[in-house]
Formats: sequence, C-alpha cells, structure tokens
Amino acid sequence: MGTGGMAAALGGAWARAGHEVFVGGRDTAAAAALAGRIGAAGHGTPAGAAAYGEVALLAVPAGAAPELAREHAAALAGRTVVDCTNALAPGPGGVMLTTGAGESVAGLIAAAAPGAHVVKAFNLAHVSMWDRLPVTQDGAAPAVPFCADDPVAAGRVEELITGMGWSPMPAGGLDRAGYVEATAAFVIGVWWAGGSPRLAFPEPPAAAA
Ligand SMILES: NC(=O)c1ccc[n+]([C@@H]2O[C@H](COP(=O)([O-])OP(=O)(O)OC[C@H]3O[C@@H](n4cnc5c(N)ncnc54)[C@H](OP(=O)(O)O)[C@@H]3O)[C@@H](O)[C@H]2O)c1
Repeated sequence: MGTGGMAAALGGAWARAGHEVFVGGRDTAAAAALAGRIGAAGHGTPAGAAAYGEVALLAVPAGAAPELAREHAAALAGRTVVDCTNALAPGPGGVMLTTGAGESVAGLIAAAAPGAHVVKAFNLAHVSMWDRLPVTQDGAAPAVPFCADDPVAAGRVEELITGMGWSPMPAGGLDRAGYVEATAAFVIGVWWAGGSPRLAFPEPPAAAA
C-alpha cells in the first residue's frame, strides 16, 4: 500500500525474490507505473492491496498508516501487516518522534485493525539500501530487526527478509516496536548531524556467545 520510495524498494526486492507483488496506490496511475517498473503481478487501489496475498505492507507516512489500516481493517483481518513507518519530525534538539512517549505507530495500527497480525520491520535502513545487494558487515548479512506477536506473521516476514539476502533479527513482541521506532529517531538524527551511528555499537567478542 503506497507507491513511493519504500513501496518501490521493498516491492521490487520481493518481486525479484520471486514473490507475487500487488501495488496499491490512491493514485492508481502511479500504482500501474510502479508495478510495471518492478515487475509486480498486479496493481490497483489500497483496498486491492489490502485484500491481496498473505502480507500487506503499509508504505505510507506514519501519520496516515493507522487511519489507512482502520479503513481496510476488514480486509486486513487475519493477515500479516508490515509497518515500515517512521513517525519523525525535526525538533529543536534534532529528530523527534511525533508519537513522543505515547503508543508506537505499530501499536496504533494494531488498535485500528484489531484482527490484523502487525509486524514492525524495515524502518531502520534508508530506502536506498533495499534495492541493491545487501552490504555485509564483517562478513555477515545486515539485519532487519522486527517485532511481532504472531508466530505465523513473524515467519512470513523472516522469509521476506532472507529472500532479500538480509538477516532477520527478532526484537520481541509488538509491545517493543516503540524501541525500534525510537532507534530510528536516534539513528536518523545522528545521520542528519553528519555522524555514523553504527560506530556507536562495537561488539565485545563475547557478545555473540
Ligand atoms: N525513505 C526512507 O529512507 C525510509 C526508510 C525506512 C522507513 N521509511 C518509512 O516508510 C514510509 C514510506 O516512506 P517513503 O519514503 O516510501 O515515502 P514516499 O516516497 O513519500 O511515499 C509515500 C506514499 O504514501 C502514499 N500516501 C500518503 N498518504 C496516504 C494515504 N492517506 N492513503 C494512501 N496512501 C497514502 C503516497 O501517495 P501519493 O503519492 O498519492 O501522495 C505515496 O505513495 C514512511 O512512513 C517512512 O517514514 C522511509
């Protein structure tokens, strides 16, 4: 659901991995154009995408995602819904979470579409990173942290991640999605300030054990 950068990058990567992708946009001409570009199996409206396949991706602004989920709650019930959004805005001291200390966007989506199995994922790496071969870190595939309550939904998202050549990083249940969202605010804030956030996480040799 969406025809912007993240829909193109993730939808394209999933199409290349052999998944059948449907592009749903409120601008159906943009959906058709994107579907052609990434080799999607179909295109149409957000309602069409909400009802299609096993997984729905909400690739829209964070402020629009809960309302979109509410609008399509019936179609999304029982299905895996991936929330890749970041609720960020510039603040006086740097990048801020528009959700503040309140509910995560993933939690708001889950409340708006109570039958859906929401998974928070794909919100940490920049859009430009998804449509290329993943850059390995010290010989290991880069990771996609994800938060999920439903094991079937978690398994589907793990399959999407590994199919792209990335590595799934289970990060707890949906009640921990706020941590991944706050991490995006930290990481993007450091990028915008010209820093390199990955340098802040050197790992002691024993950590992996
Ligand atoms: N860009 C990144 O590097 C990055 C990385 C990780 C996560 N994210 C997150 O991923 C999400 C999508 O980002 P993006 O870069 O793909 O943004 P984008 O290029 O601006 O695309 C946003 C898409 O959402 C659609 N949209 C907006 N409001 C809508 C509504 N009410 N109903 C239906 N569709 C709506 C837009 O449609 P129209 O074209 O018709 O306006 C557009 O297709 C955001 O939440 C962002 O924070 C982005």
